[in-house]
Amino acid sequence: MSSPIIVTIDGPAGTGKSSAASRLADLLGFDMLDTGAMYRAVALLAVEQGIDPHHEAELAVAMDRATLDVDFSCRPPIIRLDHRDVRNRIRDSDVTRIVSLIASHHEVRVRLVKAQRLVALQHERLVTEGRDQGSVVFPDATVRVWLDARPEVRAHRRTEELRARGQQVDEKRVLDEIVERDASDRGRAEGPLRQPIGAAVIDTSDLTFEAVVGELERLVRAKLHDANVECGCGGSA
Ligand code: DC
Repeated sequence: MSSPIIVTIDGPAGTGKSSAASRLADLLGFDMLDTGAMYRAVALLAVEQGIDPHHEAELAVAMDRATLDVDFSCRPPIIRLDHRDVRNRIRDSDVTRIVSLIASHHEVRVRLVKAQRLVALQHERLVTEGRDQGSVVFPDATVRVWLDARPEVRAHRRTEELRARGQQVDEKRVLDEIVERDASDRGRAEGPLRQPIGAAVIDTSDLTFEAVVGELERLVRAKLHDANVECGCGGSA
């Protein structure tokens, strides 16, 4: 059996992590884990059960009773809460509004970190993306990447994304929210947003999506080649 390969991709919101991670996983033939979706599913659990998102202990009890899993038989994989496909519902504004608070709770994070490590045990070729994958969850990952972009660029991307979904948004306001959320994500005690030690840094501000994916693929194949790791993922690693 060849050794497990984990690629972590972390960074602030709006750097294009999810789409890039998903495309990279497809190119390498790896599985992909969107850990933000897991935090969103817990936020949805709180919404559905009427739990105050500040109430950490109650959330922990609800998490222990619920079944939160990822269906890897689909590409990209589907997040499920109590066996229901919730991939679209977790993007709604009532969930988005509270997810940052939900993700700041220790009891929530320990449970999800445990679940993420379990996924990695079951999927030995994994691209996992989030905020703490390379710094906390998998500090020994084969390849750790930090994606970043200037706040103005991230705000512009997010604005376009929301407008494409038919929402009316003010870009300046989106920028203010991004700056505020960055500060709170970086400053929180639990799983703070920070660049993992030894991570390769890609600033996506002036890069196209294809260029970001190309750089990620080049980076992963080079690291695997240097480490003499058999990838089994085609191409010339
Ligand atoms: O990437 P996203 O917007 O779907 O993430 C949703 C929220 O979860 C966001 O507030 C950041 C948080 N999160 C986290 O704290 N740790 C992770 N590993 C992934 C996401």
